[in-house]
Amino acid sequence: MPERRELRPGIVFDEHPALLKDVIAAESSRIPVGIKEFDRVLGGGLVPGSVTLIGGDPGIGKSTLTLQAVAYLSAGKKRVLYVSGEESIQQTKLRADRLNVVYDPGHLYIVNQVDVLSIQDHVQKMKPDIVVIDSIQVLYHSEIGSSPGSVGQVRECAALLTHLAKRLGIAMFIIGHVTKEGAIAGPRVLEHIVDTVLYFEGERYTSYRLIRSIKNRFGSTNEIGVFEMTGAGLAEVENPSELFLSERPENASGSVVVPIIEGTRPFLVEVQGLVSRSSFGVVRQKAHGFDPNRLALLTAVLEKRLDLNLSDKDIFLNVAGGVRVIDPAADLAVIIAVASALLDKVVPFDMVFLGEVGLSSEVRSVSQVGMRLKEAEKLGFKRCVVPRNNVEKRADIQTGMKVIAVSNVREALEII
Ligand code: TYD
Ligand code: MG
Repeated sequence: MPERRELRPGIVFDEHPALLKDVIAAESSRIPVGIKEFDRVLGGGLVPGSVTLIGGDPGIGKSTLTLQAVAYLSAGKKRVLYVSGEESIQQTKLRADRLNVVYDPGHLYIVNQVDVLSIQDHVQKMKPDIVVIDSIQVLYHSEIGSSPGSVGQVRECAALLTHLAKRLGIAMFIIGHVTKEGAIAGPRVLEHIVDTVLYFEGERYTSYRLIRSIKNRFGSTNEIGVFEMTGAGLAEVENPSELFLSERPENASGSVVVPIIEGTRPFLVEVQGLVSRSSFGVVRQKAHGFDPNRLALLTAVLEKRLDLNLSDKDIFLNVAGGVRVIDPAADLAVIIAVASALLDKVVPFDMVFLGEVGLSSEVRSVSQVGMRLKEAEKLGFKRCVVPRNNVEKRADIQTGMKVIAVSNVREALEII
């Protein structure tokens, strides 16, 4: 009979069997990182004994965001160890000064180390609550032959650190660079090892930064946090809809607004279509922020079911603001954007479109209509085009907007 032990929340690996009832659930011990947008993407805060991978292009703001978070955590009397393998400790100090972050002078430790076994030593001696590894690509394990950044090294180092975090109940951030090709030795090889995977999305040349949860054992996926890079680090954007629609042109064909839901939050995005005659007999289709295969399918529906001639046309689709839309409810807006561009018909400025589109051009119902329409109404929209099934089956469409129900793409097109 194993003795009764205190089961500290967060300790995930324990040699002895325990009674389920004695286990303290992680939920109760979540630690907020003090940045609302970040906390939501994490699922409500950090879970002790969990590992969070933060991926993104070099220079996008991974170190900045993480430093802001751990500064806050240290101020809440959590012992933090920031392992800076890429930058000197002086550089990190400079960044902290520039960010003007408030941290507890006695709780935020930093070390410049790339040998994973030494890092393990430090962690075992210091027993911090939070550890940051910046970045996984520069670490090496002396018993593995290959060079730092190689698949073998990245995987072994991450596995060792993950085990360490779970054994000691540490909440760990692992930072990893993603290269454009999706880098074989990049963070992708780690996705299955860690508990939570967050990626920075969006464009580096704008000041906006999005982080999305791709995987989360402790929260919902596809949750998006929106930030703006300022002189004092990453600032939260409280109302992303306003931001994404802020530069919407009036009286321009091809521009359509849709209330999407990514994760648990609704927001409005503008879908822009452009159709032009193709040259040299080569037809091009390009999508930015939307799945190109899905675009091909939707344009085929326009062509086959609605007799619109797109066969000699180049089609471009863009989601304004750098958001990547996964929500199928955006289908109708995409189709309308392309048709509106092709026919040069302007979509009314106060109208949103909502619906998934099937291969027979039927408009299918979408989830959580009520929440989507509320967001559109809040932003001042007056009319909404929604799937007929949603209107007929569901009572939760209570909106001050004029509701136009459609059952296929043709009906939606007649509106414009
Ligand atoms: P960084 O966090 O170092 O990126 P990563 O760790 O993902 O490589 O961010 C670097 C960029 O952010 C750099 O181009 C400078 C800019 N930046 C600001 O605009 N404001 C700031 O307060 C800080 C710290 C960085
Ligand atoms: Mg960095």
